[in-house]
Amino acid sequence: MFYNYFSTTRFFLMNHLNRIACLALVSCQLAFLPAKSQDLYAGIIPAPVATKHTNGTFTLSQQTIIKADNPADKAVVFLTSYLNHNWKLKNKPDTTASGSATVIELTSKGAERLPKEGYKLTITPTRVTVVGKDAGLFYGIQSLIQLLPVDPSPAAQLPCVSVEDYPRFGYRGVMLDVSRHFFTVQEVKDLIDLMAKYKLNRFHWHLTDDNGWRIEIKQFPKLTSVGAWRVPRYLGYGSNEPPRPGEAATDGGFYTQEQIKDVVKYAADRYIQILPEIDVPGHSLAAIAAYPELCCTKTPAQVNPGSNFSRWYDNGKYEMLLDNTLNPIDENVYRFLDKVFTEVAALFPYEYFHIGGDECFKGYWEKDPGIQAFMKKMNFKKADEVQSYFTSRLVEILRKKGKKLIGWDEILEGGLAKDAAVMSWRGEEGGIAAAKMKHEVIMSPSTNGLYFDYNEANADLMPANRGGRPALYAYDPVPKSLTPDERPFILGVQGNIWTEFIATVPRMQYMILLRTLALAEMAWTPMENKNYQNFSEIRLPKELERFDKLGYNYRVPAPYLPTDTTMTGETFSFKMKPSIPGAKIYFTLNGKVPDITDKEYNNAIRFVVPPNDKRVFQAIEVTPSGKRSTVSRIVLENKKIAVNISNDNLQK
Ligand code: ACM
Repeated sequence: MFYNYFSTTRFFLMNHLNRIACLALVSCQLAFLPAKSQDLYAGIIPAPVATKHTNGTFTLSQQTIIKADNPADKAVVFLTSYLNHNWKLKNKPDTTASGSATVIELTSKGAERLPKEGYKLTITPTRVTVVGKDAGLFYGIQSLIQLLPVDPSPAAQLPCVSVEDYPRFGYRGVMLDVSRHFFTVQEVKDLIDLMAKYKLNRFHWHLTDDNGWRIEIKQFPKLTSVGAWRVPRYLGYGSNEPPRPGEAATDGGFYTQEQIKDVVKYAADRYIQILPEIDVPGHSLAAIAAYPELCCTKTPAQVNPGSNFSRWYDNGKYEMLLDNTLNPIDENVYRFLDKVFTEVAALFPYEYFHIGGDECFKGYWEKDPGIQAFMKKMNFKKADEVQSYFTSRLVEILRKKGKKLIGWDEILEGGLAKDAAVMSWRGEEGGIAAAKMKHEVIMSPSTNGLYFDYNEANADLMPANRGGRPALYAYDPVPKSLTPDERPFILGVQGNIWTEFIATVPRMQYMILLRTLALAEMAWTPMENKNYQNFSEIRLPKELERFDKLGYNYRVPAPYLPTDTTMTGETFSFKMKPSIPGAKIYFTLNGKVPDITDKEYNNAIRFVVPPNDKRVFQAIEVTPSGKRSTVSRIVLENKKIAVNISNDNLQK
């Protein structure tokens, strides 16, 4: 929606412009700006490296022939199955093409000249050619699919275009926490499908935490028979009642090793590698519930059902009221982890293995005489050095299994273990420090919009309950403070779906869909091609239209960004445009929440507020599928202060 107003105060203008400047989410701003017809990037998300428009259109019909060097290639199979499902193509892919029908040619010839994971897509009136090998061919096909119309039609028209493309980063990740809330194999596969569409290629699976252990380990069956289950609680994370004595733990679930293999293959067929995470030495209450001897206090525990067992202080320090840490000086703990890692490593072919390492409370270690004696012997001054010792031991255990260790940025604190890679989440500082030490880094800072469980609009407009709202689209994962030599240590970027407040797929979709698109562009597109206006005004609305047709529960941007704001003036005029093609805006002035029975906005409207009076303008957007935005609410107050601000000013 686009809007302007004629008279208001300078205060409001400043407030308004500030809010635009610090936009948290990709979608709000599109509500302010008029759509333009020309698209630099042919509608493709993430925006390609080079896009050239040519004349004419290609017609995809049921007679279209797929010609492929290798009809059994998994990318060819993917496209064929997509087109058969949506367009009912008559012909099977073949190595030759004859006849007069239009042709889609999929070939690796010439791919050796392309950068890694790169592809070339050329569409002429009679032929679509995708040149690429392995992931490159798959990504060329994803771009081709994005050019197809949302609705299958007997003869779909594709614009003639030539695209040359390859990714900026090798690591383009999404993390899903399945401990706080469990997600089924099918739900995980659906997320993998979403990632593949947007050329994301690393799925980080957070498999263990205080609230559930989710992966079958054959040598330690209690990890899942006990550790995967907690007492049922639905009030809300942090507010839930602790387990009552004798209460049955019935809520949870886990993946069998056969299911894990199935997901790994499913992901590999879409060129996605899976990074497993076993979070230690902190966040281990589910494992300790199964085997209390793993912690130094040996306290019997129960899997946490989302009841509060920590205290957080303003200085960033925290305290765990239950011992959820493994004992770092017990050789049985290392033997346990060696066996667990052996089974996990055998299931996941990816060369990296995530050991967590975050938020490890050391208070129980500091009180334990054995650990204190060990620190003295090792000449350690701080308990952080004990964690560093623990991480170094895991580096060695994993090295023997052919794996490289990754940990959250806390693993830097007592000295970074040799060869460990760092996932920077508490900001960029950990990642910067690690890159300067020539360690590999994945950037995933919560401070820069990469925590998808954080709010992306005003807190009262969001269903989840976490702070945040940092800017996302413009983020560059390579900090300017790194030298050219240090920059290649940034392997890529990741968005995280922590699920304390995300118990269902519809809520997950609400929280992640818009941000996943922005992440994809951050991970793939060269900085110089990133263009917020093009993304938010042209390509995003088209993609949201697709989500709408697919029935996804994406977040419909509220009609106004500066919601719950007071505008002061006498005359107000609004020009609004829905953020999604075909959506409608309804408004009220009488204090009621607008509904589809209220006045539909369809022209410029203008309100005159009597002197010393006010009106409450409320608006919602309703999409073609009936999905609603949250309500934008603005108080229009006439204090008889007139400052003339033109529409032009607002758009700069
Ligand atoms: C984290 O958010 N504790 C990595």
